[in-house]
Amino acid sequence: MPSPNTICLSDPQQTLCSLPIHTGSMGPEVIDVQTLYKETGKFTYDPGFNSTASCRSQITFIDGEEGVLLYRGYPIEQLAETSHFLEVCYLLLHGDLPTPEAQKAFEHDITMHTMVHDQLTNFFKGFRRDAHPMAIMVGVVGALSAFYHEALDIRSKADREMAAIRLIAKVPTIAAMCHKYSTGMPFMYPQNQLGYAENFLRMMHATPCDHYAANPVLVQALDRILILHADHEQNASTSTVRVAGSSGANPYACVAAGIACLWGAAHGGANESVLHMLRTIGDSSRIPEFLAKAKDKNDPFRLMGFGHRVYKNFDPRAKLMRKTCHEVLDALDLHDSALFKLAIELEQIALEDEYFNSRKLYPNVDFYSGIVLHALGIPTNMFTALFAMGRTVGWIAHWDEMISDPEHRIARPRQLYTGPGRRNVPGFQPS
Ligand code: ACO
Repeated sequence: MPSPNTICLSDPQQTLCSLPIHTGSMGPEVIDVQTLYKETGKFTYDPGFNSTASCRSQITFIDGEEGVLLYRGYPIEQLAETSHFLEVCYLLLHGDLPTPEAQKAFEHDITMHTMVHDQLTNFFKGFRRDAHPMAIMVGVVGALSAFYHEALDIRSKADREMAAIRLIAKVPTIAAMCHKYSTGMPFMYPQNQLGYAENFLRMMHATPCDHYAANPVLVQALDRILILHADHEQNASTSTVRVAGSSGANPYACVAAGIACLWGAAHGGANESVLHMLRTIGDSSRIPEFLAKAKDKNDPFRLMGFGHRVYKNFDPRAKLMRKTCHEVLDALDLHDSALFKLAIELEQIALEDEYFNSRKLYPNVDFYSGIVLHALGIPTNMFTALFAMGRTVGWIAHWDEMISDPEHRIARPRQLYTGPGRRNVPGFQPS
């Protein structure tokens, strides 16, 4: 008999092997298949890693069936109501909310690293003015590795912490520079007396000619957007950062890989796609036509901002984002915005539709974040760059966790080969 925490794999003739089962603090148990190949000569097959836990992690917990998201045990709803983004960064990096002193020191460290090396500004000049900000972000964040490589020892906790601080501090500066470059306007330096979100809005919207004061409601909305995007356990971009980092690569280069992955429309690019979709639909009379396209398997169109790999219930972040959306539109007196009305109508019709209902397709965080960012005056092509700003802390927290994990090995999946068998090149003469 197998022990209660093992499982036997057998074919009709015989028991093939017994595999250990691990129990986490929450969530489903996992079958440990590390010895499977050695014992059976077989691999597992799991495209898209739907059933595969790639690591142990203590950072974020999601229950997709119940719509639960916890950062280090704290519900996202509570953090979004009571915390600021930098407190959440500290929590994700260190495992606990900061004391007032630790918070002050952390904010000081971030503030002191918001400026980028002056030499980095030269990189921008190599890009076309109409380049997508995410294309520039991939290049420029990756280029940080050229500035901080020799002195960085990834086995040193202090060096890893410094990389985390630099990335959290500099990514907003770089994101705002991407925007300024594309509009032909001068880069705005960060200002140390401003908070994280306010500083970013100023670097985005201010010019050297005018005084700029950000609306506090908008500052709070941006801070909340960053909290909601800060981490999401082993999502595609975080897994990318982990895979890149598993070889011992420079963390700035690994985060650039995460940014590249995030850019895709099925991931972080969805908030940009939602706005394009709403503009294309244009009017509520055309909603049925677009819902029919979304359901048609021969049509590549999908309802952007709907569906999620993990949430098969409402995305808890979408609820909070919808609330933020109302607050921002109230503050700006934009409640009659045609785009917002169209989004509400589309959401209602889709939620009542059998196709979306039966597949448990609900609005995800990006359905509303696009509308909020639009109201904040953020250009559509910058939406995913803002997602990257929020997610940077998650990426680097996971990278740090991976490097510190004694079980970590270079990521090297296997495959089910379906190509040609061995054959000779025409004309090859064996010697
Ligand atoms: N519109 C129409 N149909 C959809 C949608 C959609 N947005 N999403 C899923 N479906 C359908 C699929 O066609 C499939 O139908 P079938 O069972 O008849 O074949 C079924 O729902 C299950 O979908 P999967 O593709 O298995 O779902 P998966 O978990 O692989 O994909 C994903 C999740 C990529 C998010 C998908 O729902 C999607 O493309 N959504 C739109 C893009 C989007 O909003 N992405 C943001 C994700 S959140 C984030 O990254 C922060």
